[in-house]
Amino acid sequence: MNHDVVERKLGLLIVLIVLVISVGGFVEVIPLATSAAAKQGAVHITPRTPLEQAGFDIYEREGCYLCHSQQIRPFRSETERYGPYSVAAESQYDHPFQWGSKRTGPDLARVGGRYSDEWHRLHLHNPRDVVPESNMPGFPWLEKSKIDGELLQRKLRVLRFLGTPYTDADIAAAPAAVADKTELDALIAYLQSLGLARPRG
Ligand code: HEC
Repeated sequence: MNHDVVERKLGLLIVLIVLVISVGGFVEVIPLATSAAAKQGAVHITPRTPLEQAGFDIYEREGCYLCHSQQIRPFRSETERYGPYSVAAESQYDHPFQWGSKRTGPDLARVGGRYSDEWHRLHLHNPRDVVPESNMPGFPWLEKSKIDGELLQRKLRVLRFLGTPYTDADIAAAPAAVADKTELDALIAYLQSLGLARPRG
């Protein structure tokens, strides 16, 4: 077709643009509806403990996602470095999701269990104490603030409303589970849970 004609006729141009976008859209959407990996979204995982959930909220508040993604892509370069690629089911209870789009630091989707709690404690206080070349900021204030158990309880109720299967007993036990825990304890518990999602029986 003559390119000139397409560019002069606005109606035709619009029709062709819509056609191209539709084909592109279908090519993206059809595999999602049929592939086995995408269907894993139907697997239900065990929700985070109240302490881990409190840590999730601190991760979000401190903007860790601005430098860290939580999404291992299905490429060899990624799976060799970080472990098996991420599947949808793993982030089903993340509100908001933490996939991220910027990697100033490494992906954290499977960081759980890679380091000791003590390593995280030192690293979050001042990253250069354990990784001399690090340009990650320190978060020394986290060890000074306690978790507010009642506020956490209200958050768990909202999460249940959004679909996370917390029971009345889970919510009732939350303040006791975080009593005397600092924000640093909660954040470390959350980091240690990353990538260790278990299917819910
Ligand atoms: C300004 C960017 C930046 C921010 C913000 C940031 N980080 Fe990092 N992070 C890095 C860099 C760079 C590294 C790699 C060097 C290092 O290990 O310190 C890193 C490393 C890490 C590691 C070790 C990962 C591994 O596999 O070795 C963890 C865990 C981590 N960060 C957690 C956090 C948490 C939790 C927060 C929020 C409280 C946070 N980071 C905020 C840049 C950042």
